[in-house]
Amino acid sequence: ESPGWAEYADVVVVGSGIAGLTTALEARKAGRVLLVTKTSLTAGATAWAQGGIAAALGPEDTPEQHMHDTLVAGVGLCSEDAVRTLVTEGPRRVRELAALGAEFERADDGTIALTREGGHRRDRIAHAGGDATGQEISRALIEALRAVEEDPGIQVIENALVTDVLTDARGRACGVALHVIGAGRIDGLGAALGRAVVLAAGGIGQVYASTTNPPVSTGDGVAAALRAGAEIVDLEFVQFHPTVLWLGHSAKGQQPLISEAVRGEGALLRDVEGRRFMVDRHELAELAPRHVVAKGVVTAMAETGAEHVWLDARHLGAEFLESRFPTIVARCRAHGVDPVTDMVPVAPAQHYASGGIRTDACGRTTVPGLYACGEASWTGVHGANRLASNSLLEGLVWGHRIAIDLAENLADVAWSEPEERRGTPALLEASALPFIQAAMTAGAGVIRSASSLGTLRNRLHTLRLERENAIPTPEAWETTNVFAVAATLGHHAVLREETRGGHWREDFPERDDERWRGHLASVLTPDGV
Ligand code: SIN
Repeated sequence: ESPGWAEYADVVVVGSGIAGLTTALEARKAGRVLLVTKTSLTAGATAWAQGGIAAALGPEDTPEQHMHDTLVAGVGLCSEDAVRTLVTEGPRRVRELAALGAEFERADDGTIALTREGGHRRDRIAHAGGDATGQEISRALIEALRAVEEDPGIQVIENALVTDVLTDARGRACGVALHVIGAGRIDGLGAALGRAVVLAAGGIGQVYASTTNPPVSTGDGVAAALRAGAEIVDLEFVQFHPTVLWLGHSAKGQQPLISEAVRGEGALLRDVEGRRFMVDRHELAELAPRHVVAKGVVTAMAETGAEHVWLDARHLGAEFLESRFPTIVARCRAHGVDPVTDMVPVAPAQHYASGGIRTDACGRTTVPGLYACGEASWTGVHGANRLASNSLLEGLVWGHRIAIDLAENLADVAWSEPEERRGTPALLEASALPFIQAAMTAGAGVIRSASSLGTLRNRLHTLRLERENAIPTPEAWETTNVFAVAATLGHHAVLREETRGGHWREDFPERDDERWRGHLASVLTPDGV
């Protein structure tokens, strides 16, 4: 496949969540920016974020306390330097975001109002629109982007799936290959070329049968980075959100999230017999770190033979629930459950990839010229389990850091042309997608074992044999990306013979610091992962 057209800029940014938009707005200081996004600017996971963005903004809070909570949630695998960067730069970045126009809720004294979520020992979650924080942040950033789009600083290409990172003769990233989706260009194949590339293409939720992530979260950034030879780290640490509205065991795709902030405001978890099962499991009970609560929920489900547990928010009252959580209440009611009068059936679903494309403190990946940011990246801040509401913060902090690095170094980077591509990888038919998702959910879901992961490997192997050599449609590319992420994740999960954070091995139920206080990294070699 050769591109039918090319657009040029100094920096190519892929993705339009908080990470991509922040990087684009800030990198404009380093040169012309081309922002590429798969569907529309608002389609990614950022706009779905409910709880908020964590930062030590309260009078009794400090970055050190935020750091402590982040390290505890990360179960020994966070990079302390990265976490220190996150928590010390975070408060300033959130205030800048507010100054840019994000309307966070305010306390009576005018300061940003703060709430609490699992794993936080202080109120430190800034939120907006009750439970529509992501939408407000997305709105403010896109408005800022529109305001500067008029000047030649930032150009936006929507409806363009990035298929591959392009590299020059020295192996330096110099652009991305694009497949335009739907109407638009006559020739759907193009390229965005620049002197640096930033992958901020979001998460991997669609690798599983049920997820809180939107349909666009097909791991495109991680898969493209793998194909470009970048190192992928800690992919086995998958966060399953404990309280996702349970719509029956056959519900597939994106499922309605019930924010942890509902528990932060006092909602309780009960098993189907009415027992508060988290009280004996952790001193923070319902507000324990997320992986602890997810495990508690799965165990309670197994003990009672039920497919869900209950989230009980009835005591919070109609007035409070409707004003504080308008989106959640409306979504529950649309599904016939009223949190004001009913207990809400909830079960875990895939929510966040704590691992991703390895980057350093400046967002640089192991491929020269290639940066990564946001959920697609691994900066070291999340360890084995991300602390609630640290993800928007990471995108914000590292978006700035990448832009600073570009401003300092881009002038020294010469323009270069992409090398002739090695050819399209063998693509999987889109019809393979539900089979991959089912295999991942059964084999590498909340609980894994050597046996479940072995079955997963066999099922993926068979799928590849049966459904390879698809024609290159965007859906085939997405399915191929999902497959690449699934295979890498399964590979990591089988190797890590311990239980830690978002990786729960039934056959190795203990944390094993002697063998496993390290990271697993994958690089795609010509022979595979
Ligand atoms: C939530 O609102 O519970 C999700 C917040 C997060 O994923 O950090």
